[in-house]
Amino acid sequence: MRGSTEPGNGSRSMNIAGADSHRGEAHPEPARWLDNLAPYDPVSSLDKIWAKPQQIPFKLDWNESTIPPAPGVYRAIVNFLSHSNHLNWYPELGSHSLCHALSNYVDLPEENILVTNGSDDALELVCKTYLEPGNRVVVPMPTYTHFLVYVEARGAQVVPFYSSDLFDSAVDELRQVLTQDTKLVYLVNPNNPTGVTYSAGEVAGLLESFPNTLFLVDEAYFEFHGETVMGLVGRYENLVVTRTFSKCFGIAGLRMGYLCTGPSVMRQLKKLFNPKSVNRLGQIAAMACLEDLDYYRAFVREVTQAKELFRSEMAKRGLNVIITPANFVNMKVPDPPRFCRLLEEEGVYVRDRSSLPRMESYVRVSIPSVSQMHEVIRRIDRALARL
Ligand SMILES: Cc1ncc(COP(=O)(O)O)c(C=O)c1O
Repeated sequence: MRGSTEPGNGSRSMNIAGADSHRGEAHPEPARWLDNLAPYDPVSSLDKIWAKPQQIPFKLDWNESTIPPAPGVYRAIVNFLSHSNHLNWYPELGSHSLCHALSNYVDLPEENILVTNGSDDALELVCKTYLEPGNRVVVPMPTYTHFLVYVEARGAQVVPFYSSDLFDSAVDELRQVLTQDTKLVYLVNPNNPTGVTYSAGEVAGLLESFPNTLFLVDEAYFEFHGETVMGLVGRYENLVVTRTFSKCFGIAGLRMGYLCTGPSVMRQLKKLFNPKSVNRLGQIAAMACLEDLDYYRAFVREVTQAKELFRSEMAKRGLNVIITPANFVNMKVPDPPRFCRLLEEEGVYVRDRSSLPRMESYVRVSIPSVSQMHEVIRRIDRALARL
């Protein structure tokens, strides 16, 4: 069921030989529902990149930004480290200053915002708070697979939903698998990896039809898409929206994310929330990101242009690229694993998605700036010549 997780990814899968087959020997027992889970085994292109320091890499496998964060981010961090080096103190509890800045950005009161250690932390917090063994969690597939770990960690059951058209949200078909006792629905908007989107109207319809179900809408790629369901927060008590600073804002290494929700869900989430889980440098960097939105708007324009450039250039080479509203596209290639290997030799790291059901011929490519894209295309040509 689970392929690999996003950052980290790798070879973790359910029911593999060797997963906790030694029950019965004398040792502390983990939760029973972890029996079928194999240890998380992350695979990172970073090791390969660091092994070739002489080559300029294009890391296009995890949908990170390909440019540095806004200059103010460095200034703010350097300023903190040189003038008030208080790394020995805990971070600002609850990230109140950042909540204040985010309140403007998301157009919601501060009480509706919780800053987390990456949006993964927000996803996990929701699962920890709301799921227990036996619960059903409906997930349109393929999806951001790391989320499935958090569901399984609670002993809950992932109910995968495949629409008849992989690249269409098919909300009417999704409704057919939802019941009044579906505990949670995870909608990635736009979806990773397919790029499928859900309009605010569609999500509002679902929220109304299934008031006992919590809808977790993951807007990790909001800045590229520009459309949001954030306006529904507070109007519906069964909605949580998560976002991240890891993608457009370019500070994945500092692990900053947040969630927005109404008062009753927030009250529950705060029971398990750790107010010191967000690091101080991340708090400072995220504030500085929000102070230079023009820098990021310019990057989004670049990515939009580069997506079109990539599609038209690959079409000339007979390769079909499916554009998404996020900062990645899916490309059909003849032999994905070999294509990725050849591309790695050129210093371009894309994501082989061909092991996911119904993504058999696809690789996912994160989109860089236009000038970076020209160089990526040159390297792709060299790889294609050897395919
Ligand atoms: C849909 C989606 N959600 C969440 C994440 C993780 O984001 P973060 O770095 O904020 O934990 C990713 C990362 O790839 C993602 O694709």
